[in-house]
Amino acid sequence: MNAHNRPRTVPADSAGIAEAAALLQAGKLVAVPTETVYGLAARADRAEAVAAIYRAKGRPDFNPLIVHVPSLSEAAALAEIDARAEALAARFWPGPLTMVLPLRAGTAIAPAVTAGLPTLALRCPAHPAMQALLAAARLPLAAPSANRSGAISPTTAAHVGQSLGQAVDLVLDGGPTAQGIESTIVALRPSGWSVLRPGPITAEQIAEVLGSGGEAAAPGAAIEAPGQLASHYAPGKPVRLGAVAAEADEFLIGFGAIAGHASLSPAGDLAEAAARLYAALHEGAAAQQPRIAIAPIPESGIGAAINDRLRRAAA
Ligand code: TXA
Ligand code: MG
Repeated sequence: MNAHNRPRTVPADSAGIAEAAALLQAGKLVAVPTETVYGLAARADRAEAVAAIYRAKGRPDFNPLIVHVPSLSEAAALAEIDARAEALAARFWPGPLTMVLPLRAGTAIAPAVTAGLPTLALRCPAHPAMQALLAAARLPLAAPSANRSGAISPTTAAHVGQSLGQAVDLVLDGGPTAQGIESTIVALRPSGWSVLRPGPITAEQIAEVLGSGGEAAAPGAAIEAPGQLASHYAPGKPVRLGAVAAEADEFLIGFGAIAGHASLSPAGDLAEAAARLYAALHEGAAAQQPRIAIAPIPESGIGAAINDRLRRAAA
């Protein structure tokens, strides 16, 4: 993409946040930093603003969006909060946990946000710039990851510009994101709970709060968890997993003792690997080699979320 196709990008300081809040109130699209990945935000109560998100991403309209709120009390205005949701919020909000809860009747949330589902995905992000923006805009903000649908998620403002260009009205640059992988999504149902998307908060941590009763996510429950489509986070070239050495035509993403052309974490630290994952995939996508290979990643802790993303990147 040419430099002149890049969106206007400003630092996530008080002037940037004030400009972003005004644009959002006017129904525009603003890319925002969160602790997980950059989001493409619009006011969740206006159908045209939400439609612009789907258009900018090229996102299938059966794939519902996460709504971001500044605290549990704003969440309670939009969805039914039971004792389990209260306990999870007390432990993990603000932070990288999204809860799928029964949508309250009569809220102003645009129907396109939930893609017609009777549930709403809610997240209270911890990033100070996103918190300041929610306070300034005084609106619930729908925000999927700020990338073309199916492509690699953005962990820097530059990634957003490369993927979306001028489809976004403003990018708030808050530097590289800290966690690097999308929030954990947990669905709370009358019959129990399940993790729809693994993320920085593990199923074990959720079980510590809710007790057992976690159900396995039904594979192929495509309408309930459309972000769990088999192919996602695609770098646009073949990806080989579990690689211990590079073939001649491969860009190798290393981990631990396997150095590679770029390393997710030379020390073998999984949190660091998650933070660097999408930047490494972007680097592999831009590299001269026609293929990408990736070292084995342990399945423990946040490794489960990393491997979930890698399987979809390779699919
Ligand atoms: O970390 C994150 O969650 C980032 C940042 C920007 O907050 N956002 C993000 O949004 O990853 P997105 O749109 O890329 O992923 C939203 C996921 C999709 O898998 C979608 O299917 C699921 O949330 N989702 C949204 N509403 C849902 C609902 N009512 N029931 C089940 N899944 C839902
Ligand atoms: Mg996404």
